[in-house]
Amino acid sequence: MGMLADIDKVLISEDQLQARIVELGESLNKTYSDEDRPLLVCILKGAFMFLADLTRALSMRHEVDFMETSSYGARTESSGVVRILLDLERSIEGRHVLIVEDIVDSGRTLNYVTRNLETRNPASIRVCTLLDKPSRRVVDVPVDFVGFEVPDEFVIGYGLDFDEEYRNLPFIGVLKEEIYAKVEEEDTR
Ligand code: PRP
Repeated sequence: MGMLADIDKVLISEDQLQARIVELGESLNKTYSDEDRPLLVCILKGAFMFLADLTRALSMRHEVDFMETSSYGARTESSGVVRILLDLERSIEGRHVLIVEDIVDSGRTLNYVTRNLETRNPASIRVCTLLDKPSRRVVDVPVDFVGFEVPDEFVIGYGLDFDEEYRNLPFIGVLKEEIYAKVEEEDTR
C-alpha cells in the first residue's frame, strides 16, 4: 500500500531494467578500456540508483563523481534555468567523462551540463541515460547510450521523483493523474 496506490501502471519492470543495464554495461565495456579509466558523472538526485547498478555492470577501471543540478519552476516541468547545487570534486582535464542521467526530457539539463563540462577540457564526453523522452525535446543534445525510450507520461521510480517521493521504487511507473494534477493546481494559484 502507501505509495503503490499512487501508481497507474508499471511501465518498465525491475527485471527489464536490470536486463537492459547489463546490456548498457556491455556496450560501455566495449567503448572504454582500463587505460581510458573513464569518470562516470552521476547527475543527482535522479540518477543515483541507475549509477549504482550501472557501475556494477562495468568491467573496466573507472571512477565515479557526482554533480547535482536543479531546475527552477513548477514541480512537474523544468523551466530552462539550470542551477548547479553540487559540483564535481576533482578536475576532469584530460579525462574521459561519461555523464550518467536518469532521463532526458527537454534536454535543457543535459545541454547545460555538457556545455559546462566541455569548458573544463576533458579528453571526451559521452552521455548515458536510462530513459529518453524524445517527444518533449526542446534543445537538441547528443545522447550516446539510451536504456529505454519512454512516451510522454509522468514517470517515477528507480531514482525519479514526484515532489521528492517515489525514488525508491525498483521499477519505472506512471503516476496517477490525480496525484500530480492536485499539485499543479496548487502551483498555479
Ligand atoms: C530531472 C532529471 C534530469 C532532468 C531532465 O532532474 O533527473 O536531470 O530533470 O529534464 P530536462 O531534460 O527537461 O532538463 P531534476 O531537475 O528534476 O532534479 P532531480 O534529479 O534531483 O529530481
